[in-house]
Order: sequence, then C-alpha cells, then structure tokens
Amino acid sequence: MTLNEVLRFVDDIVFDKTGKHLDSLQKAILRATWQGEKYSKVAQEYNCTKFHVGNVASNLWQLISQELNEKIHKSNFRAAMERYQISNFSNVFNLGGNNCLKGNINLCPDNTHSPETKQKLPTTQTANQNNTPLPKVDLRDAPDIKKIFYDRSTELTTLKTWIVKHRCRLITVSGISGIGKSTIIRHLIPEIESNFDHIIWRTLRTSPPLNVTLKNLIEIISNVTEINLPNNTDAQLSMLIEKIRDMRCLIILDDVQQILNTGQLIGNYKPGYENYGNLFKIIGELPHNSFFILNSWEAPLEIFNLMDDDSSVSLFQLTGLTEKVAREMLKNRGLLDEEKWQELINFYQGNPQWLKLVGETIKKLFAGSVAQYLSYKPLFLSDELTNILQQHFQRLSELEKQVISQLSEGEKYVSISQLLEKSQLSSPELFQTLLSLERRDLIDKITDKNEILFTVKPVFRHYIKNYISHKYTTTIPNIL
Ligand SMILES: Nc1ncnc2c1ncn2[C@@H]1O[C@H](COP(=O)(O)OP(=O)(O)OP(=O)(O)O)[C@@H](O)[C@H]1O
Ligand SMILES: [Mg+2]
Repeated sequence: MTLNEVLRFVDDIVFDKTGKHLDSLQKAILRATWQGEKYSKVAQEYNCTKFHVGNVASNLWQLISQELNEKIHKSNFRAAMERYQISNFSNVFNLGGNNCLKGNINLCPDNTHSPETKQKLPTTQTANQNNTPLPKVDLRDAPDIKKIFYDRSTELTTLKTWIVKHRCRLITVSGISGIGKSTIIRHLIPEIESNFDHIIWRTLRTSPPLNVTLKNLIEIISNVTEINLPNNTDAQLSMLIEKIRDMRCLIILDDVQQILNTGQLIGNYKPGYENYGNLFKIIGELPHNSFFILNSWEAPLEIFNLMDDDSSVSLFQLTGLTEKVAREMLKNRGLLDEEKWQELINFYQGNPQWLKLVGETIKKLFAGSVAQYLSYKPLFLSDELTNILQQHFQRLSELEKQVISQLSEGEKYVSISQLLEKSQLSSPELFQTLLSLERRDLIDKITDKNEILFTVKPVFRHYIKNYISHKYTTTIPNIL
C-alpha cells in the first residue's frame, strides 16, 4: 500500500463518518505517521502547537478505529494499514459502468480481522452509494454533448484506467485539430464524475495569463465569486495545490496550444507564459487528490520530461476513428461508392472533422460520389480544411518546415541518410527536427531492412505539395 492509497483510504473513512474530506493538517499527520516523523515537525510546519496536532490526530485515530474495529494509534497505524489492502481498483471504481462509486472500498483483512470487517462492508457501500454527493460542475467552456457520438470505447477505457486505476495526476491528450479531443473528454466526464467533488472545464483559447487561470480555478473550487490572491505566482500556485489536496477536482484545460509558441520546435511557451510550466510540473510531481487533463495540438515540453514509470504524468496521442467506425460515419452522411471509402478514410486519417468537411464537399460537388471526388487530381481540399492545415504549418519552426517539405517531395519514404544529403543539415539538427515533427504527429515511420524510413501523413503531404509555395522544398542553406 502506498502513502497515496492510505490517504485515499482514510479519506473515504473520514468522509463516510463526518461528510468532510481530510483537511491538509489531517493529511500531514497521516503522512508524518506513515513516515515515522514526530508531531512536533507537523506542528512546526503548520505553525500550531504540538498539543493541537495531538488532538486532531487523536480524533482521526478514533474514526479509523471505529471503522476497522481495532484500536488504532500513532504507533500501530502503519502496521495496521499494511495488514489491509485496497483490493483491485477496478472493483473500487467500477471501471465498466457509468456510476462509479466513490469510496467503495473492499477491505481484504488478514485472518484475525475477517469476521467483523466483512460484516461492515455492505454498510460502507450502501452508505457511500446513498451519500455520494454530486460533484460541483462548471462546464461553461465545454462543448455540448452531441446526439451522434461515434465509437471511442477503446480510448475511453484507456483514459478511465489511467485516471481511476493508475491514479494518474496529469494527462495530456494531444492530436491534430478536429481529431476529437474535446469531444472525447466531454464524453468521459459522465463516466468518471462520481470520483470527484469538482469538475471544471476551462479553455485557454484566449491565452489567459497564468494568474488569471489560477484565480479562476481557486475561486470556483473555494465557491466564492471574488478572492484576493497573493501577488506572487508561487504563492498562488501553493494556494491551488492546497485546494486540490483537500478536494478531488477534475480540471480540464482545453486548447493548451494557444499558450505555446509558434515558429519553434514543439512544446515551447509563448513569451510570458513560461510559468504555466511550473503549474504542470507541480501538478505532476506533488501528491494531491485531483486530476488534470490538458487538451492540445501539441504537448508542453514539461510533459515529456515528467513522464515516468509510475505513470502519474501521461501522454495520450489521440488518433482517428477506426475504419469500421469511420465507414459508419460516411454511411450516415449519405455518401456513395463504398469500395472507395477505405481510400478516403486513410487519406483523411479517420479525422472526424475532416471527414465531415470532405463529406459536405462530395455531396455538394459530386452528388455524394466518393469515386468521382477521388478521380480528380490533385485532390481538392476545401478552404476550411486548408485553413486548418495552414495553422498547423505556421506553427512549425523554419527547420521543421524545410524538412517536412523535403519529405513531401519525391519518394514517399525517405531515410535519414537521404534526408541529411537533401537538407544539408547537421545530424543533430535533423534528429531534433524529426523528433519534433513526430511528436506533432505529422510524420510516420516504417522499418525497412533495419533502417527507419520517414513519411509525411497523407493530407499534410498533399497540402504541402499542392497548396503552399515551394520555398522550402529546394535545398536551403543551414540557418541555425
Ligand atoms: N467520436 C465522435 N463522434 C461524432 N463526432 C465527433 C467525434 N469526434 C469528433 N467529432 C466531431 O468532430 C469535430 C471536431 O471534434 P473536436 O472539437 O472534439 O476536435 P478537437 O480535437 O478538440 O479539435 P481542436 O483541436 O480544433 O479543438 C466536432 O464537430 C465534433 O462534434
Ligand atoms: Mg478542441
């Protein structure tokens, strides 16, 4: 059992008995006890007397003792916890269904405690089931749930597992525009909402400075309309962390690419927005009970640095609809020539928004005939789509523009040695550029006879070849 599991476990007991979650002092007491530290250290940290800490601790031990039918105190707390284990989290949170149970803890006591504890289980479950309060929800910035939602069950299951079972603290859902990031997260909320006290969706579309975002989040979590925040960003961050330690918040920040810079390699911040990096770092590294989702065209740099084996920070690269699901979409949109659908879906990478856009074009110009649309070369891309592709292209650094353009001409698959020759870049420059393009999900690679070959995703390749000037496709001098 890890400390976080213990905190969660005791939090459920305390919530069950008092209707309140553990406050930060109670958590500090549990942490200190777990780590064998003295109450005086907690008192010092919390600027209070040792006597006060002792009183708070004594109440806590009483609540836990009642629940476990065993006298619990400071010196036997850790040993008692280690005798128990929270069984498989999929039982705890009922991963498959819509109504997850908060605090539905299944105790697995050792032999000496089984009869009493087993008898208590149904009471705990029933009480939690009946008493689980609905989370406070602020979805002002979120998209509406649409009537038609094409199957994303595999992706939803993965996300639920990461959030509920692996207790991830920060997930970045990254993917190209229109792939369905906002839609899938909007559909995820009802499936996990009962694990949270607060659910907040904020868009960074207008690039709000960090202090505006922090103020907004702290006010919503504190349930007040106006709050006086300290001027210093670190103090504001500490205040948020304090809140999200006490409450279980699900916070979605959408359109995160708007605080990231254009014209540079992936993940750098716009000038003045670098302090968002501290927020993401703190969320990923410090223990708390909340969970952040970042929706973005590209992941901020910290995410790659913070991703580790214990999976508290993860990256979820969202790809298109499967062919089967995309076919359903084309059918519902009344398109013809089923034998050509696979070609269309592959070209548009199963991107639901792009398929919707091209579907409209095909209906307007070719009475729904996919075969006719595909027969006119070069393939026509609507203004709406070229606009989106242009926005992605404009975000690239000069070297990325050069390399992706060179990758788009001539042979479909190109090796590193061919690229080095063509681009005249130094190998570190080329490697850095390829990694950045790959993280943006603009290029694919295959292995051929132990050699990796790169290719540009089809719509992008087509766009670069046919819709932008050829400034970048001829070899240009090394500009670094
Ligand atoms: N699974 C789906 N079923 C039905 N429609 C979908 C699905 N996924 C996405 N869409 C539709 O595709 C469009 C784009 O989806 P969405 O806004 O979620 O993309 P996004 O990845 O958030 O794009 P952006 O990065 O531009 O914000 C929307 O109109 C949405 O309704
Ligand atoms: Mg979106």
